[in-house]
Amino acid sequence: MRPDSNTSVPSLIDRFGRSINYLRISITDRCDFRCVYCMSENMTFLPRAQLLTLEEMLWIAQAFVELGVSKIRITGGEPLIRRGALPFMRQVGLLPGLNELVMTTNGSQLSESAVELRAAGVKRINISLDTLDPRRFREITRTGDLPRVLNGIDAAIAAGFERVKLNAVVLKNRNHEDATELAAFAVEKKIDISFIEEMPLGNIIDHDRSQSYYSSDEIRRDLNRRFMLLPVTESSGGPARYFRIAGTVTRIGFISPHSHNFCGDCNRVRLTSEGRLLLCLGNEHSVDLKRVVRSHPGNMEKLKGAIVGAMKIKPERHLFELTGQPVIFRHMNASGG
Ligand code: GTP
Ligand code: 5AD
Ligand code: SF4
Repeated sequence: MRPDSNTSVPSLIDRFGRSINYLRISITDRCDFRCVYCMSENMTFLPRAQLLTLEEMLWIAQAFVELGVSKIRITGGEPLIRRGALPFMRQVGLLPGLNELVMTTNGSQLSESAVELRAAGVKRINISLDTLDPRRFREITRTGDLPRVLNGIDAAIAAGFERVKLNAVVLKNRNHEDATELAAFAVEKKIDISFIEEMPLGNIIDHDRSQSYYSSDEIRRDLNRRFMLLPVTESSGGPARYFRIAGTVTRIGFISPHSHNFCGDCNRVRLTSEGRLLLCLGNEHSVDLKRVVRSHPGNMEKLKGAIVGAMKIKPERHLFELTGQPVIFRHMNASGG
Protein backbone atom coordinates (compact mmCIF):
# COMPACT_ATOMS: atom_id res chain seq x y z
CA MET A 1 0.00 0.00 0.00
CA ARG A 2 1.25 3.42 -0.84
CA PRO A 3 1.21 5.78 2.17
CA ASP A 4 -2.08 7.66 2.18
CA SER A 5 -2.04 11.04 0.61
CA ASN A 6 -3.71 13.75 2.58
CA THR A 7 -6.98 14.21 0.69
CA SER A 8 -8.13 17.40 2.39
CA VAL A 9 -5.34 19.48 0.86
CA PRO A 10 -4.40 20.36 -2.73
CA SER A 11 -2.16 17.82 -4.36
CA LEU A 12 0.89 18.18 -6.49
CA ILE A 13 0.25 16.65 -9.89
CA ASP A 14 2.69 16.64 -12.78
CA ARG A 15 2.08 16.75 -16.55
CA PHE A 16 1.87 12.96 -16.69
CA GLY A 17 -0.86 12.76 -14.04
CA ARG A 18 1.50 11.52 -11.33
CA SER A 19 0.67 12.65 -7.83
CA ILE A 20 3.68 13.77 -5.78
CA ASN A 21 3.30 12.79 -2.13
CA TYR A 22 6.90 11.92 -1.21
CA LEU A 23 9.72 14.40 -0.55
CA ARG A 24 13.33 13.35 0.02
CA ILE A 25 15.48 15.93 1.80
CA SER A 26 19.26 15.64 1.65
CA ILE A 27 20.31 17.58 4.73
CA THR A 28 24.02 17.42 3.94
CA ASP A 29 26.20 16.35 1.01
CA ARG A 30 28.98 15.37 3.44
CA CYS A 31 29.65 11.81 4.41
CA ASP A 32 32.10 9.89 6.55
CA PHE A 33 32.23 7.14 3.87
CA ARG A 34 33.41 7.38 0.26
CA CYS A 35 31.52 4.50 -1.38
CA VAL A 36 33.05 3.64 -4.74
CA TYR A 37 29.71 3.77 -6.61
CA CYS A 38 28.75 7.10 -5.07
CA MET A 39 31.82 9.32 -4.93
CA SER A 40 35.40 9.68 -5.89
CA GLU A 41 38.00 9.35 -3.15
CA ASN A 42 38.81 13.05 -2.99
CA MET A 43 35.53 14.86 -2.89
CA THR A 44 35.00 18.57 -2.55
CA PHE A 45 31.89 19.22 -0.51
CA LEU A 46 29.78 22.37 -0.58
CA PRO A 47 30.97 25.28 1.53
CA ARG A 48 28.73 25.51 4.59
CA ALA A 49 27.54 28.98 3.62
CA GLN A 50 25.97 27.54 0.50
CA LEU A 51 23.73 25.11 2.41
CA LEU A 52 20.15 25.79 3.38
CA THR A 53 19.82 26.27 7.12
CA LEU A 54 17.78 23.62 8.90
CA GLU A 55 15.16 26.31 9.63
CA GLU A 56 14.83 26.94 5.88
CA MET A 57 14.55 23.20 5.25
CA LEU A 58 11.79 22.93 7.85
CA TRP A 59 9.93 25.81 6.21
CA ILE A 60 10.15 24.11 2.83
CA ALA A 61 9.07 20.78 4.36
CA GLN A 62 6.04 22.54 5.85
CA ALA A 63 5.11 23.94 2.43
CA PHE A 64 5.27 20.47 0.89
CA VAL A 65 3.15 18.91 3.64
CA GLU A 66 0.56 21.66 3.25
CA LEU A 67 0.55 20.79 -0.46
CA GLY A 68 -0.28 17.16 0.28
CA VAL A 69 3.08 15.45 0.78
CA SER A 70 2.58 12.67 3.31
CA LYS A 71 6.02 11.01 3.38
CA ILE A 72 9.38 12.67 3.99
CA ARG A 73 12.68 10.80 3.85
CA ILE A 74 15.77 12.41 5.35
CA THR A 75 18.96 11.49 3.48
CA GLY A 76 22.46 12.81 2.82
CA GLY A 77 25.44 12.30 2.33
CA GLU A 78 25.17 10.91 5.81
CA PRO A 79 22.32 12.80 7.49
CA LEU A 80 23.42 12.06 11.04
CA ILE A 81 26.67 13.96 10.67
CA ARG A 82 24.91 17.30 10.22
CA ARG A 83 24.82 19.15 13.52
CA GLY A 84 21.22 19.63 14.65
CA ALA A 85 19.91 16.69 12.59
CA LEU A 86 17.98 15.14 15.48
CA PRO A 87 16.08 18.25 16.65
CA PHE A 88 15.37 19.00 12.98
CA MET A 89 13.81 15.57 12.49
CA ARG A 90 11.75 15.98 15.65
CA GLN A 91 10.30 19.19 14.20
CA VAL A 92 9.63 17.67 10.79
CA GLY A 93 7.89 14.76 12.55
CA LEU A 94 5.51 17.22 14.19
CA LEU A 95 4.23 18.73 10.91
CA PRO A 96 0.46 18.20 10.86
CA GLY A 97 -0.55 16.01 7.90
CA LEU A 98 2.73 14.14 7.62
CA ASN A 99 2.10 10.40 7.88
CA GLU A 100 5.62 9.10 7.60
CA LEU A 101 9.01 10.44 8.55
CA VAL A 102 11.71 8.00 7.42
CA MET A 103 15.48 8.11 7.01
CA THR A 104 18.28 6.59 4.93
CA THR A 105 21.69 6.30 6.59
CA ASN A 106 25.02 4.49 6.26
CA GLY A 107 24.62 3.27 9.85
CA SER A 108 27.90 4.65 11.15
CA GLN A 109 26.26 6.83 13.82
CA LEU A 110 23.30 4.65 14.70
CA SER A 111 24.71 3.05 17.85
CA GLU A 112 24.58 6.48 19.44
CA SER A 113 21.46 7.89 17.79
CA ALA A 114 18.95 5.09 17.11
CA VAL A 115 16.95 5.54 20.31
CA GLU A 116 16.76 9.33 19.91
CA LEU A 117 15.75 8.99 16.26
CA ARG A 118 12.90 6.68 17.14
CA ALA A 119 11.82 9.09 19.87
CA ALA A 120 11.99 11.93 17.33
CA GLY A 121 9.25 10.20 15.34
CA VAL A 122 11.28 8.47 12.61
CA LYS A 123 9.12 5.47 11.69
CA ARG A 124 11.30 3.42 9.35
CA ILE A 125 14.97 3.41 8.61
CA ASN A 126 17.02 2.20 5.61
CA ILE A 127 20.66 1.31 6.24
CA SER A 128 23.27 0.74 3.51
CA LEU A 129 25.13 -2.58 3.73
CA ASP A 130 26.80 -4.05 0.64
CA THR A 131 28.72 -6.98 2.10
CA LEU A 132 29.35 -8.84 5.37
CA ASP A 133 33.03 -9.25 4.60
CA PRO A 134 34.99 -6.63 6.61
CA ARG A 135 37.76 -6.30 4.02
CA ARG A 136 35.36 -5.86 1.10
CA PHE A 137 33.26 -3.49 3.19
CA ARG A 138 36.33 -1.32 3.67
CA GLU A 139 37.20 -1.51 -0.03
CA ILE A 140 33.70 -0.49 -1.12
CA THR A 141 33.17 2.27 1.44
CA ARG A 142 36.88 3.22 1.44
CA THR A 143 36.65 4.49 5.04
CA GLY A 144 33.87 2.46 6.68
CA ASP A 145 34.19 0.05 9.58
CA LEU A 146 31.89 -2.98 9.31
CA PRO A 147 31.58 -3.85 13.04
CA ARG A 148 30.51 -0.29 13.76
CA VAL A 149 27.75 -0.46 11.14
CA LEU A 150 26.63 -3.90 12.36
CA ASN A 151 26.35 -2.49 15.89
CA GLY A 152 24.33 0.37 14.41
CA ILE A 153 21.96 -2.10 12.72
CA ASP A 154 21.45 -3.93 16.03
CA ALA A 155 20.80 -0.61 17.76
CA ALA A 156 18.17 0.26 15.14
CA ILE A 157 16.46 -3.11 15.59
CA ALA A 158 16.47 -2.71 19.37
CA ALA A 159 15.09 0.84 19.10
CA GLY A 160 11.84 -0.52 17.65
CA PHE A 161 11.46 1.17 14.25
CA GLU A 162 8.39 -0.08 12.40
CA ARG A 163 10.68 -1.39 9.74
CA VAL A 164 14.43 -1.65 9.26
CA LYS A 165 15.60 -2.23 5.70
CA LEU A 166 19.09 -2.83 4.37
CA ASN A 167 20.16 -1.36 1.03
CA ALA A 168 22.81 -3.19 -0.98
CA VAL A 169 24.17 -1.75 -4.22
CA VAL A 170 25.33 -4.76 -6.23
CA LEU A 171 28.47 -4.60 -8.36
CA LYS A 172 29.51 -7.51 -10.55
CA ASN A 173 32.72 -9.21 -9.37
CA ARG A 174 32.87 -6.95 -6.33
CA ASN A 175 30.01 -8.01 -4.09
CA HIS A 176 27.48 -9.84 -6.28
CA GLU A 177 28.43 -13.11 -4.58
CA ASP A 178 27.60 -11.58 -1.20
CA ALA A 179 23.90 -11.13 -1.97
CA THR A 180 22.82 -14.53 -0.64
CA GLU A 181 24.68 -14.05 2.65
CA LEU A 182 23.17 -10.58 2.99
CA ALA A 183 19.69 -12.01 2.48
CA ALA A 184 20.38 -14.71 5.09
CA PHE A 185 21.57 -11.99 7.47
CA ALA A 186 18.31 -10.07 6.93
CA VAL A 187 16.33 -13.27 7.65
CA GLU A 188 18.31 -13.87 10.85
CA LYS A 189 17.71 -10.28 11.98
CA LYS A 190 14.03 -10.37 10.88
CA ILE A 191 14.45 -7.28 8.72
CA ASP A 192 14.09 -6.43 5.00
CA ILE A 193 16.69 -5.89 2.31
CA SER A 194 16.74 -4.20 -1.10
CA PHE A 195 19.21 -4.95 -3.85
CA ILE A 196 19.95 -1.94 -6.04
CA GLU A 197 21.32 -1.71 -9.58
CA GLU A 198 24.10 0.87 -9.70
CA MET A 199 23.10 4.19 -11.24
CA PRO A 200 25.48 6.30 -13.33
CA LEU A 201 25.42 9.50 -11.30
CA GLY A 202 28.56 11.61 -11.34
CA ASN A 203 31.97 10.65 -12.67
CA ILE A 204 33.72 7.99 -10.64
CA ILE A 205 37.18 6.64 -11.36
CA ASP A 206 37.04 3.42 -9.36
CA HIS A 207 35.38 1.21 -11.96
CA ASP A 208 33.70 1.13 -15.34
CA ARG A 209 29.97 1.04 -14.67
CA SER A 210 29.22 -0.89 -17.82
CA GLN A 211 31.45 -3.70 -16.52
CA SER A 212 30.05 -3.71 -12.99
CA TYR A 213 26.40 -3.97 -14.01
CA TYR A 214 24.67 -6.93 -12.37
CA SER A 215 20.94 -7.03 -13.01
CA SER A 216 18.20 -7.60 -10.46
CA ASP A 217 17.15 -10.70 -12.45
CA GLU A 218 20.61 -12.19 -11.98
CA ILE A 219 20.48 -11.52 -8.24
CA ARG A 220 17.05 -13.07 -8.04
CA ARG A 221 18.30 -16.15 -9.87
CA ASP A 222 21.20 -16.42 -7.38
CA LEU A 223 18.89 -16.02 -4.38
CA ASN A 224 16.48 -18.63 -5.75
CA ARG A 225 19.17 -21.28 -5.26
CA ARG A 226 18.82 -20.91 -1.51
CA PHE A 227 15.44 -19.28 -0.85
CA MET A 228 11.93 -19.42 -2.20
CA LEU A 229 10.88 -15.88 -3.19
CA LEU A 230 7.15 -15.17 -3.28
CA PRO A 231 6.02 -12.00 -5.07
CA VAL A 232 4.08 -9.56 -2.88
CA THR A 233 1.92 -6.72 -4.08
CA GLU A 234 2.66 -4.29 -1.25
CA SER A 235 4.83 -1.24 -1.87
CA SER A 236 6.60 1.10 0.53
CA GLY A 237 5.85 4.02 -1.76
CA GLY A 238 9.40 3.73 -3.16
CA PRO A 239 10.74 2.17 -6.37
CA ALA A 240 11.38 -1.36 -5.07
CA ARG A 241 9.51 -4.47 -6.27
CA TYR A 242 9.07 -6.80 -3.32
CA PHE A 243 9.19 -10.53 -2.69
CA ARG A 244 8.88 -12.36 0.61
CA ILE A 245 11.25 -15.15 1.55
CA ALA A 246 8.91 -18.09 2.19
CA GLY A 247 8.60 -18.99 5.86
CA THR A 248 10.20 -15.73 7.09
CA VAL A 249 9.18 -12.14 7.79
CA THR A 250 11.88 -10.82 5.45
CA ARG A 251 10.97 -8.97 2.29
CA ILE A 252 13.47 -8.71 -0.52
CA GLY A 253 13.21 -5.60 -2.68
CA PHE A 254 14.72 -5.06 -6.10
CA ILE A 255 15.42 -1.51 -7.25
CA SER A 256 16.10 -1.87 -10.95
CA PRO A 257 16.46 1.48 -12.70
CA HIS A 258 17.99 -0.25 -15.75
CA SER A 259 16.08 -3.49 -16.09
CA HIS A 260 12.58 -2.63 -14.71
CA ASN A 261 11.85 1.03 -15.13
CA PHE A 262 9.63 2.45 -12.39
CA CYS A 263 9.31 6.07 -13.55
CA GLY A 264 5.64 5.62 -14.50
CA ASP A 265 4.80 5.36 -10.78
CA CYS A 266 7.16 8.11 -9.66
CA ASN A 267 5.67 9.93 -6.68
CA ARG A 268 8.71 11.84 -5.41
CA VAL A 269 10.89 14.91 -5.69
CA ARG A 270 14.12 15.79 -3.90
CA LEU A 271 15.43 18.81 -2.04
CA THR A 272 19.22 19.07 -2.11
CA SER A 273 21.24 20.44 0.78
CA GLU A 274 21.83 23.66 -1.15
CA GLY A 275 18.11 24.17 -1.69
CA ARG A 276 17.62 22.95 -5.23
CA LEU A 277 14.39 21.08 -5.89
CA LEU A 278 15.27 18.17 -8.18
CA LEU A 279 12.34 16.87 -10.15
CA CYS A 280 14.04 13.59 -11.10
CA LEU A 281 17.13 11.75 -9.89
CA GLY A 282 18.16 10.98 -13.46
CA ASN A 283 17.69 14.44 -15.02
CA GLU A 284 18.97 17.94 -14.29
CA HIS A 285 15.55 19.67 -14.20
CA SER A 286 15.40 21.70 -11.00
CA VAL A 287 14.12 24.83 -9.32
CA ASP A 288 16.19 26.97 -6.95
CA LEU A 289 14.06 27.07 -3.79
CA LYS A 290 16.87 28.69 -1.79
CA ARG A 291 16.51 31.76 -3.96
CA VAL A 292 12.75 31.76 -3.39
CA VAL A 293 12.97 31.48 0.41
CA ARG A 294 15.77 34.03 0.65
CA SER A 295 14.18 36.62 -1.61
CA HIS A 296 10.73 36.25 0.01
CA PRO A 297 11.39 35.34 3.65
CA GLY A 298 8.30 34.17 5.51
CA ASN A 299 6.18 34.19 2.35
CA MET A 300 4.58 30.74 2.28
CA GLU A 301 2.37 31.50 -0.72
CA LYS A 302 5.35 32.43 -2.92
CA LEU A 303 7.13 29.26 -1.88
CA LYS A 304 4.09 27.07 -2.55
CA GLY A 305 3.63 28.77 -5.93
CA ALA A 306 7.21 27.90 -6.88
CA ILE A 307 6.70 24.28 -5.82
CA VAL A 308 3.42 23.92 -7.71
CA GLY A 309 5.05 25.55 -10.77
CA ALA A 310 7.98 23.11 -10.58
CA MET A 311 5.63 20.17 -11.26
CA LYS A 312 5.35 21.40 -14.85
CA ILE A 313 8.98 20.49 -15.51
CA LYS A 314 9.08 17.08 -13.88
CA PRO A 315 10.50 14.81 -16.61
CA GLU A 316 8.75 11.65 -17.72
CA ARG A 317 11.63 9.28 -16.94
CA HIS A 318 15.26 9.05 -15.92
CA LEU A 319 18.02 8.95 -18.51
CA PHE A 320 20.62 6.41 -17.52
CA GLU A 321 23.25 5.00 -19.88
CA LEU A 322 25.86 2.64 -18.50
CA THR A 323 28.36 3.16 -21.29
CA GLY A 324 30.29 6.36 -21.96
CA GLN A 325 30.28 9.43 -19.77
CA PRO A 326 27.39 9.86 -17.31
CA VAL A 327 24.83 12.40 -18.47
CA ILE A 328 24.24 13.42 -14.87
CA PHE A 329 27.33 15.04 -13.39
CA ARG A 330 25.92 15.28 -9.89
CA HIS A 331 27.14 12.56 -7.52
CA MET A 332 24.58 10.57 -5.52
CA ASN A 333 25.53 12.26 -2.24
CA ALA A 334 24.50 15.61 -3.74
CA SER A 335 20.95 14.41 -4.39
CA GLY A 336 20.32 12.09 -1.47
CA GLY A 337 19.85 8.86 -3.42
P1 GTP B 1 11.35 3.03 0.85
O1 GTP B 1 10.72 2.38 -0.31
O2 GTP B 1 10.54 4.06 1.51
O3 GTP B 1 11.91 2.05 1.85
O4 GTP B 1 12.60 3.85 0.34
P2 GTP B 1 13.50 3.87 -0.95
O5 GTP B 1 13.98 2.48 -1.25
O6 GTP B 1 12.82 4.64 -2.00
O7 GTP B 1 14.68 4.79 -0.41
P3 GTP B 1 16.23 4.65 -0.19
O8 GTP B 1 16.69 5.99 0.30
O9 GTP B 1 16.54 3.51 0.69
O10 GTP B 1 16.79 4.44 -1.63
C1 GTP B 1 17.08 3.17 -2.16
C2 GTP B 1 17.58 3.31 -3.58
O11 GTP B 1 16.50 3.68 -4.40
C3 GTP B 1 18.65 4.36 -3.75
O12 GTP B 1 19.68 3.86 -4.56
C4 GTP B 1 17.92 5.46 -4.44
O13 GTP B 1 18.78 6.20 -5.24
C5 GTP B 1 16.92 4.69 -5.27
N1 GTP B 1 15.78 5.54 -5.65
C6 GTP B 1 14.85 6.07 -4.85
N2 GTP B 1 13.99 6.83 -5.57
C7 GTP B 1 14.41 6.76 -6.85
C8 GTP B 1 13.97 7.36 -8.09
O14 GTP B 1 13.01 8.12 -8.12
N3 GTP B 1 14.68 7.10 -9.21
C9 GTP B 1 15.74 6.29 -9.19
N4 GTP B 1 16.36 6.05 -10.33
N5 GTP B 1 16.20 5.71 -8.06
C10 GTP B 1 15.56 5.95 -6.92
N1 5AD C 1 23.63 3.78 -7.63
C1 5AD C 1 22.68 3.19 -6.87
N2 5AD C 1 22.54 3.40 -5.56
C2 5AD C 1 23.40 4.25 -4.99
N3 5AD C 1 23.51 4.67 -3.72
C3 5AD C 1 24.52 5.56 -3.66
N4 5AD C 1 25.09 5.73 -4.87
C4 5AD C 1 24.41 4.91 -5.72
C5 5AD C 1 24.51 4.64 -7.11
N5 5AD C 1 25.42 5.24 -7.89
C6 5AD C 1 22.63 4.20 -2.65
C7 5AD C 1 23.29 4.06 -1.32
C8 5AD C 1 22.16 4.28 -0.34
C9 5AD C 1 21.07 4.94 -1.16
C10 5AD C 1 20.60 6.23 -0.64
O1 5AD C 1 21.62 5.15 -2.45
O2 5AD C 1 23.86 2.81 -1.12
O3 5AD C 1 21.67 3.06 0.17
FE1 SF4 D 1 28.07 8.16 1.94
FE2 SF4 D 1 25.83 6.90 1.17
FE3 SF4 D 1 27.47 7.93 -0.66
FE4 SF4 D 1 28.25 5.80 0.73
S1 SF4 D 1 26.50 5.90 -0.69
S2 SF4 D 1 29.49 7.64 0.32
S3 SF4 D 1 27.36 6.15 2.69
S4 SF4 D 1 26.33 9.08 0.82
